[in-house]
Formats: sequence, structure tokens, C-alpha cells
Amino acid sequence: MKFFVDTADIAEIRDLAESGLLDGVTTNPTLVAKAGRDFTEILKDICDVVDGPVSAEVTATDAKGMIEEGEKLARIADNITVKVPLTIDGLKACRHLTGNGTMVNVTLCFSAVQALMAAKAGATFISPFVGRLDDISQDGMQLIQDIRQIYDNYDSFTTEILVASIRNPVHVLKAALIGADVCTIPPSTLRQLVKHPLTDAGLQAFLADWAKTGQKIG
Ligand code: G3P
Repeated sequence: MKFFVDTADIAEIRDLAESGLLDGVTTNPTLVAKAGRDFTEILKDICDVVDGPVSAEVTATDAKGMIEEGEKLARIADNITVKVPLTIDGLKACRHLTGNGTMVNVTLCFSAVQALMAAKAGATFISPFVGRLDDISQDGMQLIQDIRQIYDNYDSFTTEILVASIRNPVHVLKAALIGADVCTIPPSTLRQLVKHPLTDAGLQAFLADWAKTGQKIG
């Protein structure tokens, strides 16, 4: 499973990239607004640090406008993935942009048939939002399961399932058990994945016992 980080904060991205665990980045207009910097500058900085796909979302709502914005964004760096919303215009733009060799992430997916449409439009990634479904008492992970089954039914589909709107480590665990291709994870949740109280307690005990030996390695 690939790990993308869901942020436009370059300091966070630099820090996480050093771990070697980062396969890509996703941004959205909300995250860009939060970062409070120029969008193009943010994207250039991120692409300097991360080699994998970096999602940059269009803000036009018609296909022509999305294509124009997508082509501009794609010129920033080879690893820019243009993010388009799951609308008819978004799917038209997706087909056009992927046809020209640009990676496209179709976002705001909340149903399995929407994911089927995105695969038919040649999307590189489909982004189902699990947390936002859970928020309204629907089962976000069931959606991932359904999309996995549909995509596995057809060899011609190459779209990768990019689980988005992740809120906790259990979302990542369940996505991995289902066999999703990618999780895009907020920085704080990404750091939580490595934590376990028994690891911390065990390490403390080992270090205390080692100190008693008075030895040093090397
Ligand atoms: O980038 C899409 C996404 O992951 C949104 O997450 O927490 O705003 O639902 P959230």
C-alpha cells in the first residue's frame, strides 16, 4: 500500500519525506487556504521534495475550464496529478487529460457507481471520502470494499483506489485489509500509525536494563 500525506504544509511534508515512507501528496483548496501561500509556489516546493504523485485540484466547474487549469497545473512538474471533482464535467476533463498522459485524481467520491464512472473515464486515482461518510452514519469502509470488488471484476480498469478523508489509524488498517492501493493520511494520523504504548514501555525497560550493564556498543 502506498502512503500519501494529505496536506499543503511544506514543513510537514519535508519532515515526513525524510522518513522515506512518503509515496505522494494530496492537496485540496481547503488545505491550500490553510497553508496561506501562493498555490503554484506551494506545488513547486512540494514537487521539489516528493517524487511521487502530487495532487493539485482545479477550481473551474466546467470541463473546458478544468482542462485549461489542469494543463497549467500539469506544466508545474511531471509528477503533478490533476484533481477533478466527480461530476460529468469532471469526468470529461479526466478523459481528456489522461488521454494526453496527465495523471488525474477524481475526487469527492461517495458511491461505488461514481467510482465505476471514474474508472470508465480513465482516472489514475479515485478518491472515496471515508471519514465524511462515517460522519453522516454511513459506512465509509464498505464503500472501499465495494469499489475494490467492482475494479477487481474488470481487468480493463487500471484506476487505483486512493482512500481519502482518513481520520484515524483504524481507517488505514481496514483499507489495507481490503487491499486499497493508496491511503492519503493527515500528518498527525500518519505519525500515530507508528505508536504503541507497549513499544514505548518496552523500549524504556530495555534501556534501563542496558544502563545497568554499564556497556556501550562499539
Ligand atoms: O483531500 C481530500 C480529503 O482527504 C478530505 O479529508 O478530513 O476534509 O474529510 P476531510
